[in-house]
Amino acid sequence: MSKNIDWGKLGFAYMKTDYRYVSYFKDGKWDEGKLVTDDSITLNECACVFQYCQACFEGLKAYTTRDGRIVSFRPDLNASRMAESARRLVMPPFPEDRFVKAVRELVKANKDFVPPFGSGATLYIRPFMIGSNSVIGVKPADEFEFRMFCTPVGPYFKGGAKPIVIRVCDYDRAAPRGTGHIKAGLNYAMSLYAGMEAHAEGFAENMYLDPATRTKVEETGGANFIFITKDGTFVTPKSDSILPSITRRSLMVVAEKYLGMKVEQREVLLSEVPEFAECGLCGTAAVISPVGKIVDHGKEICFPSGMEKMGPWTQKLYDTLTGIQMGQIEGPEGWVDTVIG
Ligand code: PLP
Ligand code: COI
Repeated sequence: MSKNIDWGKLGFAYMKTDYRYVSYFKDGKWDEGKLVTDDSITLNECACVFQYCQACFEGLKAYTTRDGRIVSFRPDLNASRMAESARRLVMPPFPEDRFVKAVRELVKANKDFVPPFGSGATLYIRPFMIGSNSVIGVKPADEFEFRMFCTPVGPYFKGGAKPIVIRVCDYDRAAPRGTGHIKAGLNYAMSLYAGMEAHAEGFAENMYLDPATRTKVEETGGANFIFITKDGTFVTPKSDSILPSITRRSLMVVAEKYLGMKVEQREVLLSEVPEFAECGLCGTAAVISPVGKIVDHGKEICFPSGMEKMGPWTQKLYDTLTGIQMGQIEGPEGWVDTVIG
């Protein structure tokens, strides 16, 4: 029985669900893993995660389709990105096939928390891994905890699909050189100050620029950028210091194969942004959130799509992507993983 939740009123917040998945790494191997009901973790005060932030995470979603199935979107890509994050942080990658199976187990066990089709909400799944034993000298842990919990969520940005206003940020995106492509908690910790400042000034997000020249668009605190040119070309920044968004990689395929758009992944100069017709932020949490205005130190860049609704290309991309995720449109082979069929 579906839980008695007002799905339409959900924001992007944590709610405790019935089960979470846990697996422990000790003596050089992962145990078999299991679902548990306890939502708390007890660790030694000197655990590596507390002292040296040895932690990484992922984010993906499960959906109810129109015909009542429950599916997740491209969990294999989250599994491989998390393995990459783990390697970079000297943690043992959680086996990718087991990651995908754990997503299925977790969602099945919490099926009553999966928002119904058409509710505007989805089930957000948060896998993460921490260095769990005590470490006082600067070195990696040798015991680890891999966990996965889920929580029903609504829109990431207040106002749902309404265009947002963001600012060009003076702080660098926190990811140290060479770690932009991993999803490490430490990168996010270092973006909290910039995020807090943006919110205090009335902006929904920060546009980070490349730290070396401060002329190129990178990404925001929690999403990649997409732009549409006046002649309908899909443009997205190429940089090795941004997170390789699974949503963006999927949208590049949707744009080219489903909508017949020209697709460019290339360096995007801040100076050319005023020439674009549409702008959006894409990610698991953000889905595609349209950007109506970017404020660059008092100078306003206003997109022709305006502040009332998504631009026409952004809308088509949004409808096609979410149509695939919710089973209304046939996706490319392997994109949709059935949890309950
Ligand atoms: N960039 C950052 C910094 C993020 O935190 C996220 C969210 O996961 C993304 C981009 C979007 O990535 P994905 O589409 O894989 O969720
Ligand atoms: C996601 O979209 O999954 C993210 O991780 C973004 C943010 C919630 C951290």
